[in-house]
Amino acid sequence: MKAVLCKAFGPAETLVLEEIASPEAKNNEVLLDVHAAGVNFPDTLIIEGKYQFKPPLPFSPGGEAAGVVAAVGEKVSHLKVGERVMALTGWGSFAEQVAVAGYNVMPIPPSMDFTTAAAFGMTYGTSMHALKQRANLQPGETLLVLGASGGVGLAAVEIGKAMGARVIAAASSAEKLEVARAAGADELINYSDSSLKDEVKRLTGGQGADVIYDPVGGDLFDQAIRSIAWNGRLLVVGFASGRIPELPVNLALLKGAAVVGVFWGSFAQRQPQDNAANFQQLFAWHVEGKLRPLVSQTFALEQAAAAIDTLGQRKAVGKVVVTVR
Ligand SMILES: NC(=O)c1ccc[n+]([C@@H]2O[C@H](COP(=O)([O-])OP(=O)(O)OC[C@H]3O[C@@H](n4cnc5c(N)ncnc54)[C@H](OP(=O)(O)O)[C@@H]3O)[C@@H](O)[C@H]2O)c1
Repeated sequence: MKAVLCKAFGPAETLVLEEIASPEAKNNEVLLDVHAAGVNFPDTLIIEGKYQFKPPLPFSPGGEAAGVVAAVGEKVSHLKVGERVMALTGWGSFAEQVAVAGYNVMPIPPSMDFTTAAAFGMTYGTSMHALKQRANLQPGETLLVLGASGGVGLAAVEIGKAMGARVIAAASSAEKLEVARAAGADELINYSDSSLKDEVKRLTGGQGADVIYDPVGGDLFDQAIRSIAWNGRLLVVGFASGRIPELPVNLALLKGAAVVGVFWGSFAQRQPQDNAANFQQLFAWHVEGKLRPLVSQTFALEQAAAAIDTLGQRKAVGKVVVTVR
């Protein structure tokens, strides 16, 4: 099979496309014929050896895929050959086939195409878990989303609206903010040319945001925590800016606020039934047209490096997908 390989940790341009042996589905594993693979920010880090997981070299990057079950290990009973599925693979999806633990594979609705399914699991799974289990977002509350045109950010805008919140989208350019507006955002803040803290205060009549969704970290976190409402919840989702911020905890004390960690991959593994329930809701909203995943660019397998670079260079809007079949 064809696979994009990382043979030494380094930038995307060092990835190579090679012919290698297909993997097998052992025990509790599922072998997937990959049709499309979603690109996520961790792909930019894992090839550089900077992510929390360091796969043994050589490996194929690609943390999620959609495709058809080609084989199942003897201990897998919930899936059958030929079923259309999405899978959280961690790595290995920028290839024609990938073997993945069965608990990370989920059937997709008949109405969902493979490109959409490859763009759905990680971002909507993360944002749903963040807003539901971690923030307990309530109808009528104000939700501030940072990096609101990115993968997890845009999903948070749509899910926030579906949950009945007033959504303030914040991003670094007018073009990116238009994407968030099209996804349903009520208010927009361009944090390249205005103070995030001042704008949030202005838009909330001085109250601040009830829930803050932060996949960016760094300087934006520092401003965001100062714009949180009484009893607010700040969701720590990621650090796309490259800096893990530090918190003077008196700020949490003064607002009676909570800073809440979000780790969807671990949640999906530890609480599979809650995760499955989240996806039933997400699939229902998709069928109802409340969620309209934006795939702004697709790349062929040979161009996977360029696909990863799009995210690394802060140029991606919505999701970028590698089309494999
Ligand atoms: N906790 C979890 O379970 C979980 C799950 C999935 C992803 N994540 C994390 O969430 C973050 C976002 O992932 P994603 O896949 O949504 O990425 P993405 O599509 O590339 O979006 C990241 C956003 O961050 C902003 N950003 C600010 N500084 C940046 C920089 N130096 N480089 C790139 N982007 C920058 C960009 O928006 P602006 O230009 O508008 O600022 C961009 O839209 C990552 O840190 C990822 O690891 C966490």
